[in-house]
Amino acid sequence: MSHTTFPAGFVWGAATAAYQIEGAVCEDGRGESIWDRFSHTSGKTKGGATGDVACDHYHRWRDDFALLADLGAGAYRFSVAWPRVLPDGRGQVNQAGLDFYSRQVDALLERGITPYVTLYHWDLPVALEDAGGWPSRATAEAFAVYAGVVAQALGDRVKHWITINEPWCVSMLSYQIGEHAPGRQDWAAALAASHHTLLAHGLAVPEIRRFSPGAQVGITLNFTAAVPASVSYADRDAARAFDGYFNRWFLDPICGRGYPSDMVATAVEAGLLPDGLRFVQPGDMQIIAAPTDFLGANYYTREVVTVGTRPGEWQPVRLDTPRTAMDWEIYPEGLYHLLLRLHSAYNLPKIYITENGVSYLDEPGDDGRVRDGSRIDYLRAHLDACQRAIAAGVPLAGYFQWSLLDNFEWAHGYDQRFGCVYVDYATQQRTPKDSFFWYRDVIARNDLAGSS
Ligand code: FCB
Repeated sequence: MSHTTFPAGFVWGAATAAYQIEGAVCEDGRGESIWDRFSHTSGKTKGGATGDVACDHYHRWRDDFALLADLGAGAYRFSVAWPRVLPDGRGQVNQAGLDFYSRQVDALLERGITPYVTLYHWDLPVALEDAGGWPSRATAEAFAVYAGVVAQALGDRVKHWITINEPWCVSMLSYQIGEHAPGRQDWAAALAASHHTLLAHGLAVPEIRRFSPGAQVGITLNFTAAVPASVSYADRDAARAFDGYFNRWFLDPICGRGYPSDMVATAVEAGLLPDGLRFVQPGDMQIIAAPTDFLGANYYTREVVTVGTRPGEWQPVRLDTPRTAMDWEIYPEGLYHLLLRLHSAYNLPKIYITENGVSYLDEPGDDGRVRDGSRIDYLRAHLDACQRAIAAGVPLAGYFQWSLLDNFEWAHGYDQRFGCVYVDYATQQRTPKDSFFWYRDVIARNDLAGSS
């Protein structure tokens, strides 16, 4: 095996999420989600973009699966829309919603593609938000029931499950920063939401195992490497605080370490936890630390930070380094360090990169070809980081490129194109970009060598 070859059995995939691609938001009994409401609220998304149609994947999924097969993907990560399955979040099951996903699972398996199902990629049924949303414990309990319903329907065939995608986004980005649905800006609510998101994961794990014997179950966290702007103690403290807020607050409880005490102290000092960790009930931390089979890690960029206005706070520092259309710094080395750190500091049986990719403002040339060489450079550099991590002993079992298709990039709307397949939203025509063919070669060879 050369140093550019991936281990035998390495899982090559692509990822999507329901609200970003499906469209058909009013069809076959689907209920309303917080993203329907949020995107239809003036000023919340770029240009007022919504997921009403998105990539029309709900009607075109067979064509999209043909693309996946052409890519040679061994696995496909997609999410189930909770409001398609339980339009009110709990109670009445919508069989048509389950059938939609059941057909997809069959079609994937027929093509030799292993489904990796994410149960929550941000489309909370509005009925649950109106009853309190993620700051309310009842949402975690409802999620466990929903997880059981989906596992019962698909668990005979789906053997890889991801409970929640990116709890930081579900809680902080959505309830503290307010950039994502439901768009609240309330620290106390966000901290409670973070706990209930993790609790939802922990409660769902046994439900999935109950209905999907032999399944592998995990959670996906998003990691942003925190790098101090200088070697000063103040900057290093700032990086530690950023890491605590963004990474450790979620990773430590999952790994049985509870909430990081430095972050709890900071939150208490800042008055963000007027009632302490009142939302943590006896037994919760054990539930959250339910043994899992893998950790899903999403990685895109790093944050260079310096000391903020108060101790325990940070502010970002902008370096003169290459950035993507999302204005995220390109920093593949951060992925290497992340993987080494996860392996050495946490006891993880297996890791998948469940998302990694890049947005550029791709457009077809006059000949119709989409020349996205910059995306190829990005993917190659990050896969090289993966490979070096594997060589260093990290149990990295697979990689899912984000994303199969250009899609609805949340608050950024449709300008950001992460796909290795270009989508013309006016015609819904799909055009594989140069990166698609490049990635296809890498997959076919299980090797990065010669992938120029
Ligand atoms: C991640 C999300 C995914 C997509 C990428 C760019 O945070 O999980 O849906 O938006 O970022």
